[in-house]
Amino acid sequence: MEAIITGKNIVKTFGQGGEQTKALAGVDVEIGKGEFVAVMGPSGSGKSTLLFALSGMDGITSGSVKFDGVELSELGENELADTRRTKMGFIFQQPTMLKNLNLLDNIILPAARDKKKRDGLVKKAKNLMEKTSIVGLETRDITEVSGGQLQRAGICRALMNEPQILFADEPTGALNSKSAEEIMGLLEEINRGGTAILLVTHDAKVAARADRVLFTKDGNIVSDLPLGKPGVGDMEARGEKILSRMAAVGI
Ligand SMILES: Nc1ncnc2c1ncn2[C@@H]1O[C@H](COP(=O)(O)OP(=O)(O)O)[C@@H](O)[C@H]1O
Ligand SMILES: [Mg+2]
Repeated sequence: MEAIITGKNIVKTFGQGGEQTKALAGVDVEIGKGEFVAVMGPSGSGKSTLLFALSGMDGITSGSVKFDGVELSELGENELADTRRTKMGFIFQQPTMLKNLNLLDNIILPAARDKKKRDGLVKKAKNLMEKTSIVGLETRDITEVSGGQLQRAGICRALMNEPQILFADEPTGALNSKSAEEIMGLLEEINRGGTAILLVTHDAKVAARADRVLFTKDGNIVSDLPLGKPGVGDMEARGEKILSRMAAVGI
């Protein structure tokens, strides 16, 4: 499989002098084009730092991160921002949205650099809102929708520029189990459309949807479990595979 991201010997240290934390301790990782990869590990093991490093959201202390063949550290600030804006999408536990804009305007905001393109963007956003079942909420204030609906809007926003990869840091962490299920169904559908996904989660049931699961501990990837695409009715078995691997590596 051709790689969208190749990370080699990634080290990320926070702090200075005697107060240093090695959040990533020399990580090698490869994410394939269109691949769906989950990251699991205890709190503080470096999951979010890894996601930030691989997306260029944060610089690394040493090592290499290549995105689509380009070394991220060699890009200037503007080029890096452009790469993130046009090739990557991001979703977190809860999307950060502007309170003075309605849901639709929040969704198109990052894509709306050129006011003349507004009509096309609105059309695209409405199409995404339809796919994520939040059509009809366009003019709602962001305080007038549920957590699940807000997360769907966050996904729409992340997909506006048709990214090659979606980075998701515990996207179901703040949702009830029904909303979480629905969001995961959506992510699977997005992945089937060809978008790679790198998903951080604490939940083995959520990770069971991925093609492969990486396990982090103390700033290292300590295990790599290939699951393949889910088949009919095998979710439980996949979840159990993940849990037994976690037990085997002591996390
Ligand atoms: N901005 C920061 N400043 C200092 N330490 C940090 C910062 N971000 C993360 N860390 C530390 O790096 C380690 C890994 O954190 P993180 O990647 O957030 O873990 P996870 O997402 O797995 O919970 C932790 O020890 C954490 O305290
Ligand atoms: Mg985290």
